[in-house]
Amino acid sequence: MHIDILTVLPELLESPFQHSIMKRAQEKGLLSIKVHHLRKWAVNDYGQVDDYQYGGGAGMVMMCEPLANAIEELSKERNRDDPGAAYDEIIYLTPDGEKLNQKIVNALSLKENLLLICGHYKGIDERIREHFITREISVGDYVLSGGEIAAVVLADAIGRIIPGVLNDETSALFDSFQDNLLAPPVYTRPEDFRGWKVPDVLLSGDHKKIEEWRNELSFKRTRERRPDLQND
Ligand code: ADE
Repeated sequence: MHIDILTVLPELLESPFQHSIMKRAQEKGLLSIKVHHLRKWAVNDYGQVDDYQYGGGAGMVMMCEPLANAIEELSKERNRDDPGAAYDEIIYLTPDGEKLNQKIVNALSLKENLLLICGHYKGIDERIREHFITREISVGDYVLSGGEIAAVVLADAIGRIIPGVLNDETSALFDSFQDNLLAPPVYTRPEDFRGWKVPDVLLSGDHKKIEEWRNELSFKRTRERRPDLQND
């Protein structure tokens, strides 16, 4: 899978993809992530990519021209003139988008080419949303200072479940939210820490019992913490 990310703050996106699972996914050739600085497509030598909003009001709006030119040039780099053909989805990260969940992440992890667009200030000119954006995603009902952190959340959630990325391929299947269930509690050594004991069943070696215990705790946690998941 290839993910292009368009941003005015490329520095914010450097480190998150250079460690751990994201790093491994790229080293294995299963994922490539390329961050592009929108200022490359600025409308003047001052690097302008935003302007005042029509109708007045505080806050700048990201202009059409740099975004349209960037999207079209990046599409050509993907060997297609038509952005709709170059990318399976052109995603705008925005608090008024559909709220991200594991189901959306799973579906996006099966795609080949994604373009993520990070908004700033008051957001991007509505015409770009109408004519280029195919999907709008929010990472939660709160406002971040820009779309970069949201893009990191989305790319990380997608990258880790691309087949072959995790060593133990089955482990993603047992994540919280797969099957609309939260994960059960986990323990590691020592068996007794300050008198706080690991549940006996986990030391029993009885795999059937252990699985039953984990299922039971998964359901209990979900019921107590996120009953809404069971109604999805
Ligand atoms: N940009 C600012 N806030 C956001 C959010 N909650 N989700 C996605 N993009 C955002």
